[in-house]
Amino acid sequence: MRKNKILVTGGTGYIGSHTAVELMEEGFDVVIADNLYNSEAVVIDRIASITGKKPALSVFDLCDREKLDAFLDEHGDISGIIHFAAYKAVGESVHKPLEYYRNNLVSLMNLLDAMKKRGIPHFVFSSSCTVYGQPDKLPVSEDAPVKPAMSPYGNTKQIGEEIIRDTMSVGEGINAISLRYFNPIGAHPSALIGELPRGVPENLVPFITQTAYGLRKELKVFGNDYNTPDGSCIRDYLHVVDLAKAHVTAVKRLLEGKNKTSYEVFNLGTGKGVSVLEAIRSFERVSGISLNYRITDRREGDIEQIWADPSYANKELGWRTVSTLDEAMLTAWEWEKYIRKQ
Ligand code: UD1
Repeated sequence: MRKNKILVTGGTGYIGSHTAVELMEEGFDVVIADNLYNSEAVVIDRIASITGKKPALSVFDLCDREKLDAFLDEHGDISGIIHFAAYKAVGESVHKPLEYYRNNLVSLMNLLDAMKKRGIPHFVFSSSCTVYGQPDKLPVSEDAPVKPAMSPYGNTKQIGEEIIRDTMSVGEGINAISLRYFNPIGAHPSALIGELPRGVPENLVPFITQTAYGLRKELKVFGNDYNTPDGSCIRDYLHVVDLAKAHVTAVKRLLEGKNKTSYEVFNLGTGKGVSVLEAIRSFERVSGISLNYRITDRREGDIEQIWADPSYANKELGWRTVSTLDEAMLTAWEWEKYIRKQ
């Protein structure tokens, strides 16, 4: 049987690279489109070290429609697209809203339009639990209301989902799935790929591992006066390899025609809430390092607590997380040590 070819946009990035690996391990042909804005081409070699095969990489910007068309002319046999490529820094998006709206939405619309015109039938979108804001009910399921976005970044995910929903509802034989991620952490067990933020990390786990490595003086815990058992915020942290596997499952669901409607949405999380202080303790346990941290003021815009009800994804996709928090923390730490030696 001919292998299905999947376009992974942003395939050299954190979640994209892990997904490329899982797709290749499952026998898919992977082509990557990436402008390397926030990643490096060497990731392709590392994917090749893990899988034994180098995915094709085309370096261009998806906002450039002519380049996208030339790329799709070259790869006429793509059967599905997984779209990761986007700007993702929440804080930066507040200062550069137009850059965020233009980059994240123009690339999305270019892809959807090209898909329609060329009859590429399947699309998987990288969305976020940020669309729920602070939910009224926990755990949060897919039917919870979407709340006004707290940042331009979050708004690009909300608007992105709406654009996809409306495009799919026209009924031209194209289908899409939006995957709403909770907090992806960790790295591939090979330690060859992982999360590599530019500059000072905004996210918790890269900040923890960089502090442990000595690149940061201390971790600031943003608040311990929340209405939670230990006072720190609660999130649903899932291993990035589990998350990557969900993308393979979603693509297969579309390819096999198992989707119930032309547009579906799934929460991807463990279903378990973990506090910042618990996350720190997990890191300390697996690394044997005592982390230098300090409680500070709350971070503006932070949500107090959120965790997923993943039962719809469990049932419909047959997917669930298998890795523990400790396993995820250990792989994050192994990756930090690997990458600093490069
Ligand atoms: C953030 C974004 C979310 C985005 C996600 C991408 C906000 C409000 N939300 O999620 O929209 O989809 O990143 O990864 O920015 N923390 C500390 N000290 C730190 C860093 C974080 O205590 O130095 C705490 C935070 O207060 C939070 C938890 O760790 O409680 C997780 O933070 P983070 O990794 O930034 O993720 P989110 O805020 O959940």
